[in-house]
Amino acid sequence: MYLKDITHTLGSELSRKRIALCVTASISITEAPRIARLLMRHGAEVIPILTPRACEFVSPMIFEWSTGNSPITKLTGRVEHVELVSEPSKKVDLILIAPCTANTMAKISSGISDEPVSTLVCTALGSGIPILIASAMHEPMLKNPIIQKARKNLEQAGVKFIEGKLIESKSKLAEPEVILRAVIAELTNSRNDKASLLSAPTHTNDGNSFANNNLIITAGPTREPIDQVRFISNASSGKMGVALAEEALSKGAKSVCLIHGPGVTVPEEFKNGDSRAQVKSVTTSQEMQDAVLSALSKGGKNVLISAGAPADYSLSRVRGKISTSEKPTLKLELGATKKIITVAKEKFPKTFVVAFKAEYGLNSKELSRKALETLRTSRADMVVANDVGNKTIGFGSDYNEVSVFTRDHKARNVPRASKKEIAHEVLRIAAEEIARIDARS
Ligand SMILES: Cc1cc2nc3c(=O)[nH]c(=O)nc-3n(C[C@H](O)[C@H](O)[C@H](O)COP(=O)(O)O)c2cc1C
Repeated sequence: MYLKDITHTLGSELSRKRIALCVTASISITEAPRIARLLMRHGAEVIPILTPRACEFVSPMIFEWSTGNSPITKLTGRVEHVELVSEPSKKVDLILIAPCTANTMAKISSGISDEPVSTLVCTALGSGIPILIASAMHEPMLKNPIIQKARKNLEQAGVKFIEGKLIESKSKLAEPEVILRAVIAELTNSRNDKASLLSAPTHTNDGNSFANNNLIITAGPTREPIDQVRFISNASSGKMGVALAEEALSKGAKSVCLIHGPGVTVPEEFKNGDSRAQVKSVTTSQEMQDAVLSALSKGGKNVLISAGAPADYSLSRVRGKISTSEKPTLKLELGATKKIITVAKEKFPKTFVVAFKAEYGLNSKELSRKALETLRTSRADMVVANDVGNKTIGFGSDYNEVSVFTRDHKARNVPRASKKEIAHEVLRIAAEEIARIDARS
């Protein structure tokens, strides 16, 4: 059906997953069709269920269009709430209430079931189907002790909440991307539990590829001071590293630490959305290196993706402000900074390291020669090479085109695509490599 043509356009983490999207009468209802489309773009089948009040806020037709499925708006003789919980061909894998009103929260926590949303949740609670709530309401409603108690009750019953932000006395609905990531994390975690009971690890590479990995990702430039007010830097925007960090969260990574230099736009979920996401802002190459080593020192199965562009040279001594009248010409003696990936691999040899190598104006033969040299000298496990001399990709652009080299000397070209799509492909190859290494050890 053409309404579902967008399915899988951004990923396959929710492939074959049926999600009941329950919608209630909050002013944030306008976000619900976007949430539905985003879930579909990552592979999900979305079944919309609306409260009668929600149907007064917007026409259910919007949800028919956005999901390609008929919205459930009434309790009928077909007992859809039972079908969605227990009929094998119709059963959903997850129930998401977004937005959820204070009214619906209070009702489901007390077991009231008098319309399709509360009746579905009342039927599903205790069935093992995960239930996620993204609420939206005015602050006084949120602070109401009865609503707080309702939330606690629901949490005790196994319902999980996706946090929004408190802005202008309103507890806002979480961003669609944050909701997407919570859904992916929930479904990939429960899939891991089931998989570990049923089978040994496989080389598959879907949504749960990084469930056991902490990803440490650098993004953007660093600044090396010339004096107290001037610095050397480069034109990196950090967009590639940020796309990798977002994609790593979508793929269900255990944790993602984004270490970024100046001027990088940090996505919402790294500010205070997803509990798996941490962010560290740095200025100099040394600070970037220190932040990477500190993240690696926490232990676990670490993957370092060095997509940042730290300055390669620095001055050893910096003082005051150099005066142009005193020094009409200025000679700087710069020393090369230590490569972060080399230091990381020396100190934490078990880290899986993906090095980004920016080259300028090289043909593909020279690019691959340089990439293979980096694989050898830096002891990286994977090198992603691109030509920053190409104005249609690279620094500042939303697009990139890369060649990926792995330890078995295989080269894969990823043609020009959005940085998000490049991130998806780079992480897919990294997951394959990690699985290959794990299978050997
Ligand atoms: C314009 C408007 C916006 C509203 N927004 C919210 C909201 O964001 N959160 C909330 O809890 N209630 C909100 N309400 C109140 C609910 O719509 C009301 O409690 C309703 O009974 C909820 O019905 P439902 O939970 O069955 O969908 C709003 C009401 C109006 C008129």
